[in-house]
Amino acid sequence: MKNKKSPLSLHLATKAIHGLDIHPRTGSVSLPIHQTSTYRFTKTEEAVRFAEGDESVYVYTRYHNPTTDDVQRNLALLMDAEDAVLFASGMSAITTSIFSLVRSGQEILSTPSLYGGTYRFFRDELPKLGITVRYFDPYDLPELKKLINENTALVYAETPTNPTLEIVDLQKLVKHVHNAEEKLSRNIFIMIDNTFATIVNQQPFNFGVDVVVESTSKYIGGHSDVIGGVAASRKVITKRIRQTAKSLGGSIDPFVSYLLHRSLKTFPLRVEKQNENALALAKYFENHPKVKRVIYPGLKSHRYHRIAKKQMRHFGGIVTIEVNGGAERAERVVDNLHVAINAMSLGGVETLVSIPVYSSHVNMNDAELELHGVTPGMIRISVGIEDINDLKEDFNQALRV
Ligand SMILES: Cc1ncc(COP(=O)(O)O)c(C=O)c1O
Repeated sequence: MKNKKSPLSLHLATKAIHGLDIHPRTGSVSLPIHQTSTYRFTKTEEAVRFAEGDESVYVYTRYHNPTTDDVQRNLALLMDAEDAVLFASGMSAITTSIFSLVRSGQEILSTPSLYGGTYRFFRDELPKLGITVRYFDPYDLPELKKLINENTALVYAETPTNPTLEIVDLQKLVKHVHNAEEKLSRNIFIMIDNTFATIVNQQPFNFGVDVVVESTSKYIGGHSDVIGGVAASRKVITKRIRQTAKSLGGSIDPFVSYLLHRSLKTFPLRVEKQNENALALAKYFENHPKVKRVIYPGLKSHRYHRIAKKQMRHFGGIVTIEVNGGAERAERVVDNLHVAINAMSLGGVETLVSIPVYSSHVNMNDAELELHGVTPGMIRISVGIEDINDLKEDFNQALRV
């Protein structure tokens, strides 16, 4: 199978559907599922070739699978990356990529506002292996330059962040890291979790980032029915990631790869609609008497709207609101919704709501919540593709109960 050769320069929505020539021999329009754990050798000589490093010989699905390979190539095409590696979850993409690039004795510098799972991995797992994580203020980048030292292996950031939707200036971040690299005369990897923005709204590689990770359980999957993750980068880096993935074993199932491929076809279309609905809902909340605060990067009132405008095409499908009365009141609002569903996760076609102190930021003490900017009265809304009038009406009645 090959990348479709076209004399046209295709846009994202077209690439999402026609990215690859699928099965040129049989003419199958949809992607075949190679639901197999292992592969028959025609001759033992093939097993020997694999042992000698020939990656084109399929041997075992934890290492590689034709369906997954096609989806990875399609994702790489969409993400403008040399290569992409799929995983069994977003956390697997993040942890495996980090283990492949950082070793014991080295350190990671990260923005403090992170997905709770990533933060807990940094807090609970990495120190056991002798990897330190220190946090920098993304709005004081000269401080980051001061923190970078001989042991710094990786700079990690999420933008927009979960659930406070803070925006990290990618251009400035990369510039400061590159300046520090010059002084140290060695490379520091920059990894961005692009799950919230997605490649439809933000292209981190344009700013010189090394690795982009995304939970494909969210917008790429888009139907709240799969768990998966992707790490995209240059081939020299994905080679390391693939090698580590073989040992850690977080490989994606071929059927999930197939579902992701199916989802990719409507991915830009879905995200465009989610962008549109989220902006409309955020504007509606701005004038709602029962909403204490609305956070959405597309609003002029957002603290980092200027940076968001500079680096994002549109502003994504997540809106966070804060209500008076803390978690108790947030609970009442959420429990009175009829259209929006009270469920964790995000990025699906259906609107989901969650209370961060009970979901992404559970098991964090007050100081940690403050560090992440999370308050008990916050409700995170992952806006779906429903009719916007129904969403407005649903939130209006729930806020007034
Ligand atoms: C920003 C972000 N990154 C990573 C993850 C982890 O992805 P997964 O649940 O697919 O492991 C999540 C999950 O909620 C997330 O919101």
